[in-house]
Amino acid sequence: MPANLPEPVEMESSVNIQTFLTFLLAMTAGLLLAVLVLPSWLPNMAFSLNGEAPKVFWYLARATAFASLSLLWVSMALGLSITNKMARLWPGAPASFAIHEYVNLLGIAFAIFHALILLGDHYIGFTFVQVLMPFSTTTYRPFWVGIGQLGFYVWLLVTLSFYVRQGIGQKTWRVIHYASFAMYLMGLFHGIFTGTDSGLDWVQKFYWLSAGSLLFLLMYRILASVAEKLFPQKPQPRPVPAPAARPVPAARPAPVPATTAVPTAPSQARAPQGSD
Ligand code: HEM
Repeated sequence: MPANLPEPVEMESSVNIQTFLTFLLAMTAGLLLAVLVLPSWLPNMAFSLNGEAPKVFWYLARATAFASLSLLWVSMALGLSITNKMARLWPGAPASFAIHEYVNLLGIAFAIFHALILLGDHYIGFTFVQVLMPFSTTTYRPFWVGIGQLGFYVWLLVTLSFYVRQGIGQKTWRVIHYASFAMYLMGLFHGIFTGTDSGLDWVQKFYWLSAGSLLFLLMYRILASVAEKLFPQKPQPRPVPAPAARPVPAARPAPVPATTAVPTAPSQARAPQGSD
């Protein structure tokens, strides 16, 4: 996330492009399998898939929308807790960073699914080009759908910038990373103003909790950095290492005169000559 980013050693990527593509493939295969297998287990689902107006695409679009926004929320929260140093308390900056990266990529995968599955929703009737091109839809809340599409592209840009940060420079990358706040807000308002479920009680609680917790982490981050500037902590004097104690040489045993040698064990004692 923004300023005071963790040291480069903590920022080593733990996900390569193959892993990301495997994620995407596994998720698509899993969902396809579910769509194919579930109708035979749950007959009502077959109607949802094959009826005149199949609803399954709409259901999947809504479910993956919340999955995507939740993952974006967790990813943002982890990013903020790295920069405001809360992550040091638990689970530690390197672990937070790795989860931040994974969760972010998973969120993108769900967003792609959320957008593409809408192609099967006859009610909305989007074309492939309309799904890809921001503000090109006409049939369903075009402005707020466009904001979601724009947010998705900003999300892609922010993520890709991480993998090319060596090329674009740390400063440029940081500026691009700030766009994650705009992208989150776009996703949030897109959800609120296009979603079928925005009126539901739990959905409203979800939106409040998500935005409220991120606002709290951001405020904490800002206040912590203001406090750091106003009251800079004096660098602690380095502890001077104590000089190593010189080893005391072991006392040499006093030489025992040969004539007064005393046997150590009774069995070794020699009986005095002629003492019987
Ligand atoms: C890529 C382009 C995108 C398109 C074309 C798109 C399209 C849509 C549409 C048409 C709906 C209304 C579905 C309905 O309730 O009937 C919707 C809802 C929603 N979208 Fe997107 N979206 C996109 C990106 C995103 C992104 C990136 C996020 C999250 C970060 C997101 C999160 C949501 C949420 C939370 C809802 C509300 C779902 C509900 O209330 O049931 N969308 N989207």
